[in-house]
Amino acid sequence: MRFVFRPPATEAAGLLALPWDRPLATWPDDVLADVPQRRISRHVVRYVALEGTIYALKEIVEPLARKEYALLADFGADGLPTVGVLGICVDRPGDQPAILITRYLDYSVSYRHLFSTPRGDVSAEQLIDTLVALLVRLHLDGVFWGDCSLSNALFLPDAGTVAAYVVDAQTAERHASLSPDQRLRDVDIAIGRVAAELLDLEAAGLLPADVDAVQLAVGIRPKYDALWTELTREEVVLDDHASGVTGRVQRLSDLGFDVQEIELVTSGAQAVVRVRTQVAGPDAHRRELFRLSGLEVQENQARRLLDDLRGYRAWLEQRDGAELPDMVAGHRWVAEVYQPVVDAIPAHLLGRLAPAEVFHEILEHRWFLSEIEGEDVGTTTAARSYFDTVLGETTREPGVPSIGSRLKQPTAADGCR
Ligand SMILES: Nc1ncnc2c1ncn2[C@@H]1O[C@H](COP(=O)(O)OP(=O)(O)O)[C@@H](O)[C@H]1O
Ligand SMILES: [Mg+2]
Repeated sequence: MRFVFRPPATEAAGLLALPWDRPLATWPDDVLADVPQRRISRHVVRYVALEGTIYALKEIVEPLARKEYALLADFGADGLPTVGVLGICVDRPGDQPAILITRYLDYSVSYRHLFSTPRGDVSAEQLIDTLVALLVRLHLDGVFWGDCSLSNALFLPDAGTVAAYVVDAQTAERHASLSPDQRLRDVDIAIGRVAAELLDLEAAGLLPADVDAVQLAVGIRPKYDALWTELTREEVVLDDHASGVTGRVQRLSDLGFDVQEIELVTSGAQAVVRVRTQVAGPDAHRRELFRLSGLEVQENQARRLLDDLRGYRAWLEQRDGAELPDMVAGHRWVAEVYQPVVDAIPAHLLGRLAPAEVFHEILEHRWFLSEIEGEDVGTTTAARSYFDTVLGETTREPGVPSIGSRLKQPTAADGCR
């Protein structure tokens, strides 16, 4: 057998003890992490846990495994939202297919779960929007997906919305840029796949009564066209070039994308504004929060957390009558506001949602309680009430592992061949 791993190899070393010579479907329960098969997939997918990290293993023929491995690595390096790839195992005995190893995307949920969640804070429309935005980002970077669907993406709760990640890149192709025909074909594939998935949900009674599966799927095209056009169109501005440019950049930023380069071609009073949209975005808030606090969270979560950080900083500065340097303000907010709330999450509720999402929900809950009370109840009271009345009620997809709480750690004995 042969293993091809991306560094750091230390992470991979622990995986070597697994029974790679056996068909994945026959691996004993005691080496597998407790993540039930809850998704429709063509290939056998199993999960293992090692030192607090969960990995997804997919059995797939070698050429496809090699291709997907290279593509996922490439996407990751370019900052596209995909699952992280660790390596492949090839040349398994008896002509068995290869195994592709990816990192389990922590706190990710499937679309089926998002539709069946009683919390209902993510609508079907939002889910489609986020999938469309993902497809547009791939297209801007010259990636033809070839199989855009809800089940080939994973969704991460992000402050009342969701962020989408590519999980299945088997059919993807990388080009310098895509032709309109290629993009159209990709959108058509998405419409077909998503319609089938939504009809499936409908048949299972999981789609809200007011959602029309086919209409929602067909709506992918206008959504895609609108976003693509907004991101790439040339704009003619008259007279006030500066405000024309600022307005354009602001609209793109409102859509959650960064502008990488602006080209302004003037002729007399008229100017044409061309923008090159940054594929690695939209993550301006993530980067800013990381710079100030060292926290790595999703984009909308970062937006919320930054608001709270700024509010706390203003309060500190007013109280002490002195301006604080960025780094000091950021680290005081983490130490005095954010971390105490995260540390207060009761042990039995750990792992249900990412800490930043819990913090965001507590901010919402604080607002809600304060409205009822007619005065600000403060974060501590809001957190206590939230843990008792909201988080405890949150259902997770059954068996989705929570790091450190429900993992089965394979031991050396488990993994010996
Ligand atoms: N790294 C991962 N993290 C979380 N889930 C994963 C991961 N890799 C695969 N899965 C799950 O396995 C399912 C099937 O994987 P996918 O790559 O789509 O293969 P296929 O569709 O060819 O069987 C996905 O829909 C996803 O739910
Ligand atoms: Mg798939």
